[in-house]
Amino acid sequence: MAVILYLTTIVVAWLLAILYAPVKQQITVLGLLRPLESWQNVHGIENHIIQDTIACEDLHYHEQSGLLYSACQGDLVKAAGWFPGAWSLDYPKNPASGSLVVIDPKTMKARKLSLENFYSDIFVTHGISLYTPPDDQKTIYILAINHLPNPLWTPTSSEHSKAASRVEVFVHKIGSNKAKHIRSISHPLIRTPNDLLALSENEFLVTNDHYYLDGYMRLVEELFHPAWTDLLHVHANDADNVTATVSLTSVPGNNGLGWGPNGQVLTSDATAGSIYFADFQDHNKTLSVSHSIQADGVVDNPFFFSDPYAGVDGKDYSGYLLPGIGRAGDFLTNYKDPTGKAPLTSLVYFLPASAGKKDSEDSGKKPILVFSDDGSSLRGATTAVIVAIDPATNDGKRQGWLFVTGVIAPHMLATKIDFPTTLA
Ligand SMILES: *[C@@H]1O[C@H](CO)[C@@H](O)[C@H](O)[C@H]1NC(C)=O
Ligand SMILES: *[C@@H]1O[C@H](CO)[C@@H](O)[C@H](O)[C@H]1NC(C)=O
Repeated sequence: MAVILYLTTIVVAWLLAILYAPVKQQITVLGLLRPLESWQNVHGIENHIIQDTIACEDLHYHEQSGLLYSACQGDLVKAAGWFPGAWSLDYPKNPASGSLVVIDPKTMKARKLSLENFYSDIFVTHGISLYTPPDDQKTIYILAINHLPNPLWTPTSSEHSKAASRVEVFVHKIGSNKAKHIRSISHPLIRTPNDLLALSENEFLVTNDHYYLDGYMRLVEELFHPAWTDLLHVHANDADNVTATVSLTSVPGNNGLGWGPNGQVLTSDATAGSIYFADFQDHNKTLSVSHSIQADGVVDNPFFFSDPYAGVDGKDYSGYLLPGIGRAGDFLTNYKDPTGKAPLTSLVYFLPASAGKKDSEDSGKKPILVFSDDGSSLRGATTAVIVAIDPATNDGKRQGWLFVTGVIAPHMLATKIDFPTTLA
């Protein structure tokens, strides 16, 4: 007996020793030791609420036009009741009819695009991606995830998935008030799409954030975080010929996607708090990961800020934003609150551009916290984007607006940040 006890003690001590650091880091990332009562907000100099931006998960800055693009569910009750991405599958008969939204960062006004040729009442929005053809800088193709409930699903059969998520392709002329629907793209491998990255108007990368949509195996995924998810390359020749191949399987829980500099592809392992830096190999349609960096919070949609005014004073504030929910456990419970009041915290981290280069001295750097909120100003960050302010119109000051949006938030927030104090 004593020998068994002795051996057990050794084994347990050994397990604790090897697991201590990763478990501690995991607890930090999930925010288990960050009580709401003692939450410290970190905001910029002034805050602006963007009206008419309800439940917008994703946000993109379109450099050529200087405008921000998003897709919003537009209704907190509907978004809370049906959104496969947050494991909210209780009200498939009442899905959102969302929209595409353009935000002018100079006026802080959001306007909804009218969707032409789109014969679906259902638009349960999630990730989007923009594609501007090199030979037509006035046109934007907007690719958007749509989580439709599956009409074939019944409570008694397990044959069909509850969701029939697909990708919608719209075309939009910059400055116009409309977007025309071109096509819907679905494929059996597109199961739990989260975000996408348009390579052209009919070719994209897309993440499946889970393997299972529902059921106890989804719980296994949430708890143990196995590498069952994948990232696909999808090519749609014409409506009936969609090919999809797996581009990457090594990132568990892959979630948001974004562009880094020079065609670099960014993805995240949300609940591990990691951003991954990768390159797309066009010849075999796969992604090669160069390295990853872990933050102390969840990382949802990664964004690369390219500082347009680096030439003004020789200081380049370009870098990566890593936004996410502050207390991950709250997400599963509070997401479904139909009153939209249950608090969801936010954290946004920043890494300088050099951290995106493998083996640079910053590639081992800890991301710095640039925004934190207890849920009172912004409900649960999923995306963050920086838009720089021209120093010529700002007394020479190097500042910008940090836009933060949340998948189940009543509005986006823009907070003005001072680059020298916040990003350095
Ligand atoms: C579908 O497109 C692929 C190339 O992407 C091609 O190889 C294949 O023959 C096409 N299939 C049909 C049925 O057109
Ligand atoms: C794809 O090509 C890259 C090199 O360009 C290589 O490292 C990788 O192993 C290839 N992947 C597959 C699945 O063939």
